[in-house]
Amino acid sequence: MAQIDEIAPDIFRISVLAPGLNMQFNHFLVRDDEPLLFHTGMRGMFPATSAALASLIDPASLRWIGWSHFEVDECGALNEWLALAPNATPLCGAVGAMVNVNDFASRPPRAVGEDDVLETGKHRFRWVPTPHLPHGWDAGMLFEENDRVLFCSDLFHQFGDVEPITRSDVVGRYADAMAAMQAHPVLLDYVPYTPQTRRRLERLARLEPRLLAAMHGSSYEGDGAAALRAAADVMEQVLGEPPLVG
Ligand SMILES: [Fe+2]
Ligand SMILES: [Fe+2]
Repeated sequence: MAQIDEIAPDIFRISVLAPGLNMQFNHFLVRDDEPLLFHTGMRGMFPATSAALASLIDPASLRWIGWSHFEVDECGALNEWLALAPNATPLCGAVGAMVNVNDFASRPPRAVGEDDVLETGKHRFRWVPTPHLPHGWDAGMLFEENDRVLFCSDLFHQFGDVEPITRSDVVGRYADAMAAMQAHPVLLDYVPYTPQTRRRLERLARLEPRLLAAMHGSSYEGDGAAALRAAADVMEQVLGEPPLVG
């Protein structure tokens, strides 16, 4: 069973809670002349996510299906969606198309490069490549320019059955989640901290998003640039090399 919330005009968060993991998996539908879904979700969640989407639009009208990086929660159910939506085209970065999607998808993707813009009617989406942020060579993020919404994938991951939108301390929650992941015997090293990480976060901060649409946890409404810069500090502290001593 999915929970649906409109987090911005015609931008819907379709959330499925995985109780065993104590975390939400969020899929975003942008209802427009050319409807766009960001994150397909896992195949196992497809009955719930597709039923939720069908309560908002005719699934056959779906035009674009995008995501950040190749992983089952991001794009595992892509072919199920393509079968349901005959006019839909996968939307991914050029690296993702070349290394995964041209082979994986049942229909060819539209591959986008740095700062390519897609207009879907009222909305304008800019593709920002972010290799290895949050993770994956092919990673990128989609920025909706009119409402200033950054679809930021696993960035700002939060645990728990949290509210659809928060205006409070998302960075603190992110720090707690990253520390919990890093302490986990299997799930540690979830996200790399590299010499490029801060620069890539700064690039995103300069977009000045007012809403950060997180895949796991609440979306954050507020000063997205400040949150992104603070996230760089969190990542350095939790994931960076320990300081040299002696
Ligand atoms: Fe991921
Ligand atoms: Fe994820």
